[in-house]
Amino acid sequence: SGPGPRADDLLAWYDRHRRVLPWRALAGEVPDPYRVWLSEVMLQQTTIAAVRPYFERFLTRFPDVDALAAAPEEAVMSAWAGLGYYSRARNLHACAKAVAAAGRFPDTAEGLRKLPGIGAYTAGAIAAIAFERAEAAVDGNVERVLSRVFAVEAPLPGSRPEIRRLTQALVPPDRPGDFAQALMDLGATICTPKRPACALCPWMLPCQARALGMQDTFPRKIKL
Ligand code: ADE
Repeated sequence: SGPGPRADDLLAWYDRHRRVLPWRALAGEVPDPYRVWLSEVMLQQTTIAAVRPYFERFLTRFPDVDALAAAPEEAVMSAWAGLGYYSRARNLHACAKAVAAAGRFPDTAEGLRKLPGIGAYTAGAIAAIAFERAEAAVDGNVERVLSRVFAVEAPLPGSRPEIRRLTQALVPPDRPGDFAQALMDLGATICTPKRPACALCPWMLPCQARALGMQDTFPRKIKL
């Protein structure tokens, strides 16, 4: 087998194809932690298309974390109405109050993890995207990409820790936020669950599943 996947090849692809999304900073600019956090919470169980209008409206109503913290619970719930999974909105509000009281967002994954409603994935995403910490953000899409690139034979969910390690080992210390979002974009647009567009993939050559002609059989899953 040849060389493994390189972050540089993924980042070069991202530089040419990155999706323009309202919570992303322009290339080379520093994103606002409040916008990154809000978008990651909204995107936890909801598609980009559904999140977009809510994200914009939410920011108009609550332009920063202090405004959100100071808002009455009903105002937050009504701005969230329609997005579903309402515990996210309650956690969001509690989180805003904690951040406003502290005067700043925690800027490490470990610190972020302690906030209400922020699990390992969201903490990693915010730490990487908003604070350029060398953290991986591994959701179902990223699990699919990595399980294919490394032809991970162990099935999900048991293989999660291994996939997390494989992802973490690839994080480039100089561009962790772009790397996290490049993996998200790759999983959403190229390395799709069915009929992945391997010919367009920056990791086609190092992809072990592709070399076997078995890309759509990964990730392996426990049959329930
Ligand atoms: N899904 C979750 N977070 C995302 C992000 N920052 N960009 C694109 N898709 C995402």
